[in-house]
Amino acid sequence: MKLLRIDHVGYAVTDLREAVAYHERLYGAEVTHREEVPAEGVREALLAVGESYIQLLEPTGEETPVGRFLARNGPGVHHIGYGVADVEASLAELQAKGARTVDDHPRRGSRGCTVAFLHPKGAMGVLVELVEDPGLFPDPTSGGSLHSAE
Ligand code: CO
Repeated sequence: MKLLRIDHVGYAVTDLREAVAYHERLYGAEVTHREEVPAEGVREALLAVGESYIQLLEPTGEETPVGRFLARNGPGVHHIGYGVADVEASLAELQAKGARTVDDHPRRGSRGCTVAFLHPKGAMGVLVELVEDPGLFPDPTSGGSLHSAE
């Protein structure tokens, strides 16, 4: 496997509207995508930073991963998303190398991505998300791709 880029930095925020307004006002950043992910218990907004994103995450309730994070730590950096070409293969390789994972299998993330999380314990204290973006790595059988898979 290969880490291809920082796909996004995920922020835990208490008020998505306020967090978006802050980034717009300070940096002139633009929201490129909004989505609610019920399985994660979050509403998110993505702000483009070059080819990467800031992912603002507001929990939909207290008993959600981001809700519990906010109660423990307050707002701040929640996780880092690493872009990979194939989450399933990367996850299998990392598990074979003894990495502790949150997800045993890849699952669906926002904007049609496939994702899987590694546990912060055993990952330098950082919650890491592997992200396979189909927009960046289209199915090779359906046309060209920007990068070749490992
Ligand atoms: Co994320």
